[in-house]
Amino acid sequence: MKPIQTILCIGAGYVGGPTMVVMADRCPEYRFLLTDINADRLRAWQSGDPPIYEPGLKELLARILNRNLFFTSDADAAIEEADLIFVSVNTPTKTFGQGAGLAADLQYWEKTARQIKSRAHQPKIVVEKSTVPVRTAEAMERILNAGGGPRIEVLSNPEFLAEGTAIRDLLEPDRVLIGGPNTPAGRTAIEALVSLYAHWVPREKILTMDVWSSELAKLAANAFLAQRISSINALTGLCEMTGADITRVALAVGMDRRIGPRFLEAGVGFGGSCFQKDVLNLVYLCESQGLPDAARYWRQVVEMNLEQRRRFVRQMVSRLFNTLVDKRIAVFGFAFKPDTGDTRESPAISICRQLVEERARVVVTDPRALPNAQRDLADLGSAVTFDPDPYHAAEGAHAVALLTAWEEYRQLDYRRIFQNMVQPASLFDGRNALDHQQLFEIGFNVYPTGKPPLIHD
Ligand code: NAD
Ligand code: UGA
Repeated sequence: MKPIQTILCIGAGYVGGPTMVVMADRCPEYRFLLTDINADRLRAWQSGDPPIYEPGLKELLARILNRNLFFTSDADAAIEEADLIFVSVNTPTKTFGQGAGLAADLQYWEKTARQIKSRAHQPKIVVEKSTVPVRTAEAMERILNAGGGPRIEVLSNPEFLAEGTAIRDLLEPDRVLIGGPNTPAGRTAIEALVSLYAHWVPREKILTMDVWSSELAKLAANAFLAQRISSINALTGLCEMTGADITRVALAVGMDRRIGPRFLEAGVGFGGSCFQKDVLNLVYLCESQGLPDAARYWRQVVEMNLEQRRRFVRQMVSRLFNTLVDKRIAVFGFAFKPDTGDTRESPAISICRQLVEERARVVVTDPRALPNAQRDLADLGSAVTFDPDPYHAAEGAHAVALLTAWEEYRQLDYRRIFQNMVQPASLFDGRNALDHQQLFEIGFNVYPTGKPPLIHD
């Protein structure tokens, strides 16, 4: 195989876009190409105004756009030119047929593999960046090398970035994971990818292993993170009943170095496009390998997460005198976490739907996610309205429900908000992001998560 000169990424989404931007910045001697079937997305990238919000991304893009990073809609030509191809297309949960609701839908991945096959006139390295079930690389390898033609090596290189901190995570990863076949050609391909990352990642942080361990490690890492959130959330109801404080419990538990402090923030639970999808994927893998107990164990992580959203709404109904009919509820935050406009699987989606089922009048505010929120709730019609101004959203409301811990929500003038609400005014803090004592002193009835409520007599 000739030395690597051109690197292509297929799929310019939350992973492909930031990853190529960082790589192009750190590896100036390579030419990077990015392609996507979504022409609007490509146009936005090409204009220098990324289609996704990610702190630091726009500035970094400006440095390398059309220097050594190029966006193209001509995927066929890009595949022909590229020596190494990252595939970071979406792999959502299957909605039909076998494994519906659990397994990963690999149709986009397989289409991409076939497209690469049809345009690969020289040996290439294909790298799976998307999160895929165990043994996907093997299937792709069979498609890519069926019927002869130039040899294509398939590597697994799962991505661990989190949205909102993608640039930092890419620049300073805890580890880079590369799985590949233990053959001479496989080892050469692994070494090529290692030397790409070694431009900015210390060698000792670059792990190499077999493909299946690499694929499973990605699912396992997400399952462990999701499990921590469900574990802490599984204690919140108990705290509310008994007067214990979940933040103190988490502090005490997390100070044990064997456990560690991160991912112990209780709240309305995890959202995002990956945790639920990847845990369910693991459930499906366990089920299909005849391991029903392991499947049930992991499924409970997702069940607990869904219950946390239901419990939040049950609490709102009971605290607001057992009826939400015609009550205005201001939802503060719709993104699945702060610093992103992404709303995929956001807890806010199901919470707003449950509030509408209770016939509340819901008004949603969010600094970045309102366009996505409008799309997610389009079918609810006039039962939900959207307002970029949190003060305005809370005017005439019976309650505020905080669902995303945006920094700006900590800085608001809650006295002003309180004065314009229907009394008694309630605040349900689904992320434990605010100063509850101060809110109580202003006059709110305050309902944190996993802590005793602060209620005026
Ligand atoms: P995304 O939906 O933001 O991006 C995927 C892109 O692929 C889309 O723009 C889509 O148009 C494009 N695409 C689909 N089929 C294509 C094809 N045949 N040719 C060209 N483009 C095609 O998804 P994402 O969030 O970037 O996730 C991608 C993968 O990375 C998933 O497997 C996900 O599990 C994994 N992952 C995501 C994150 C995250 O934080 N979002 C982190 C780590 C891993
Ligand atoms: C997560 C992982 O953190 C990444 O390592 C992984 O690469 C990515 O999934 C993926 O595979 O897609 P992401 O979903 O972007 O990243 O964001 P997280 O910071 O993990 O947050 C996920 C959800 O958990 C958010 O809704 C967040 O509010 C919630 N969360 C997080 C909690 O409820 N409590 C916590 O303590 C931490």
